[in-house]
Amino acid sequence: MSPYEIIATKRDGAELAPEAIGWFIDAFMKDEVRDYQMTAWLMAAYIRGLSDAETVALTQAYINSGKTVDLSSIPGIKVDKHSTGGVGDKVSIILAPLVASLGIPVPMISGRGLGHTGGTLDKLESIPGFQTQLDVPQFQELVSRHGLALIGQTAELVPADRRIYALRDVTATVDSIPLICASIMSKKIAEGIDALVLDVKYGNGAFIPPPEKAEVLARKMIQIGRASGKQVVALLTSMEQPLGRAVGNWLEIEECIDCFHGKGPNDLMEVTLALAAEMVVLAGKAGSAQAARDLCQQALSSGKAWDKFLEIVAAQGGDTEFLEHPRRYPRARFRAELKAGESGYVAAFQTREVGMASVELGAGRLRAEDPVDPQAGIRLHRKLGELVEKGQVVAELYTNRKETLPGALKRLEKAIHIDARPPKIPPLVLKRLA
Ligand code: URA
Repeated sequence: MSPYEIIATKRDGAELAPEAIGWFIDAFMKDEVRDYQMTAWLMAAYIRGLSDAETVALTQAYINSGKTVDLSSIPGIKVDKHSTGGVGDKVSIILAPLVASLGIPVPMISGRGLGHTGGTLDKLESIPGFQTQLDVPQFQELVSRHGLALIGQTAELVPADRRIYALRDVTATVDSIPLICASIMSKKIAEGIDALVLDVKYGNGAFIPPPEKAEVLARKMIQIGRASGKQVVALLTSMEQPLGRAVGNWLEIEECIDCFHGKGPNDLMEVTLALAAEMVVLAGKAGSAQAARDLCQQALSSGKAWDKFLEIVAAQGGDTEFLEHPRRYPRARFRAELKAGESGYVAAFQTREVGMASVELGAGRLRAEDPVDPQAGIRLHRKLGELVEKGQVVAELYTNRKETLPGALKRLEKAIHIDARPPKIPPLVLKRLA
């Protein structure tokens, strides 16, 4: 097999044999296929697409590039949740301890923010001391002892995805359904789970905005999970506006604290409970989504979920003092307000642009190696359908880099539309797929 033939076959729209894909990824990991050859192939795959068989082969080749975790010695059905990425999406931080507090093992390996989206790891690392870069034995130990682990991708698991994602990120080949599918599912299958709940975002802040396409992505991921013997359920949820009111790392942790104490924003709680209930049903702890939701509500109101969160933060080296007393957390040095230029309803968000404004303030990264500022971000005072008077604050911006404020303010102003008529609010949970 030669890289040239493999690239040319995909360029011409023909289907590659699974062995050819397996060989290509393996040769890339041995540096026998060069970055420029891989990026040419990725672009061909992006334009021509991959068949289901090719997507399964790519997923398997990614998995074969590293180790897989064995959690079989830990009793119970191990369930994880994965989101395709959004703005203000802090669901994992509430949901994982909540589900684990019901005695369901949650081995969660999350990602960092990239582009306009935030990442669970960056949010967790805004808690001083919190360690996310743990190895596989430490991951297994946490799940065994605490029924929960919240870690980052390890060097041993699916190394091909890390290298290839970095290439996709700079060659405009991220938003391809089969490439996203293989990237996400390989990592989930390698982490040793039995079941998975997918939060597939649709809307203008999602990687794949059209709902019909998001559904295709969800169905493909379900099919790949099934082919590997995993139970998979997907919810299509809205990214037509940021989830909750906080965008940015510590600001989002503060919002999670509110959620644990029953004071979280409705949309965030709704998506969290819908996904958590699916996990509880998959784990066999409830016979229906409603019974599972009731269990989740009880775990929140009794404080069990909060206690589990404090337990895992302490176990991963985090300082729980700031969680107990969030006002003691140091604030960003600079702040600005976006005020409404006219009275009316908040009628639409360009959610991707809200994410980019937050990146500009320092909360996210444009390249994988960029540092993030834990204190930077945006607090939305108004969400879709809410009324605002001319001159009232629509959003607050926080940063430690004063020079970013004018640009971020301008971007945010353009991203939030006010209209005299109330908008039609898109469904938060559009569809359930299984
Ligand atoms: N998240 C991933 O892990 N991979 C993708 O390709 C896109 C989003």
